[in-house]
Amino acid sequence: MAKDRFGRNIHYLRISLTDHCNLRCVYCMPEDMTFRPNPELMQEEEIITLTHLFATLGFDKIRLTGGEPTIRKNVVEIVRGIASTEGIRSVSMTTNGLLLSKLAEPLAQAGLERVNISIDTLDPEKFKRLTRWGKVDEVWDGILAAEAAGLTPVKLNAVIVTGYNESDAVPLAGLTAKYPWQVRFIEMMPFAGATEFQLTQMVTAAQVQKQIEAEFGPLEVVNNGKLDGEARLFRLPNGIGDIGFISSVTVPFCASCTRARLTADGILRMCLLREKEIDLLTPLRAGATLEELRDLILATVWDKPWGHGLSEGTIPLNRVMSEIGG
Ligand code: 5AD
Ligand code: SF4
Repeated sequence: MAKDRFGRNIHYLRISLTDHCNLRCVYCMPEDMTFRPNPELMQEEEIITLTHLFATLGFDKIRLTGGEPTIRKNVVEIVRGIASTEGIRSVSMTTNGLLLSKLAEPLAQAGLERVNISIDTLDPEKFKRLTRWGKVDEVWDGILAAEAAGLTPVKLNAVIVTGYNESDAVPLAGLTAKYPWQVRFIEMMPFAGATEFQLTQMVTAAQVQKQIEAEFGPLEVVNNGKLDGEARLFRLPNGIGDIGFISSVTVPFCASCTRARLTADGILRMCLLREKEIDLLTPLRAGATLEELRDLILATVWDKPWGHGLSEGTIPLNRVMSEIGG
């Protein structure tokens, strides 16, 4: 078991398969984003080697992220390799959904259990403006394909940003009256320099909840208010799906965080919002033994920061979300 010095049992690894993306969401990256050249990214066998290593340390839950994980070459084979690793109990993915109409079925067959699909608005024009060129219809097809392939429960992620989609939380939440999906609202996190966005443009989970309740009436608490992962869950009166709020900024869930992140270039990062990180890929390529890498991972996990420092104004400067894996 990998434990940190605060006694948290760290067993959830988010692996970024690539920093590249086929969209450019305004709050995530600049339009002219430069990406890492492929040789700098973990190669397939390196991803599998590191996954095995983490599994021997008690990591049992993997989420694949990006950038956009589905544009990674051989993503189906990578999923198969990870899902068949001894000790790995669940493999899920966070995706923008654009390629799911083609990939949902093969990914499910390769062992992918679930997907979280990002969709910040249902309005085609606003979606295009937010993602700079995306077609919301393609995401919708991807959502239906994910459901048909059994990648369920389907979870939809929405970030609400002032000036882009403030009025879209209501129609998104309304989906849960009709579909058994979980629609989650994630507070926008600031990544300095990467985008023009500031904390002031973040719409808080409480504000989103207020808008939804103004339209549909009071939400019902699900699970007695117990967190589902990082989300507090609610239901519309008569809803069949759930509405989740992920208030990472205003009500951090750091105390119960069990995650570590492996960036696409093989760097272990223990907190999304803290700059500290340890390179695993360079020693792996330089011939470090598995024992040496294991010690490096355990020491890094032990030193996991207590939590992020947004409340005292500390914002990470060294990497943006797409480079870390959301
Ligand atoms: N703050 C919060 N969420 C973000 N995402 C991307 N950038 C940010 C940010 N700055 C979300 C996307 C997607 C997931 C990969 O991360 O909307 O749902
Ligand atoms: Fe791509 Fe996701 Fe970032 Fe949008 S939020 S640009 S889909 S990585």
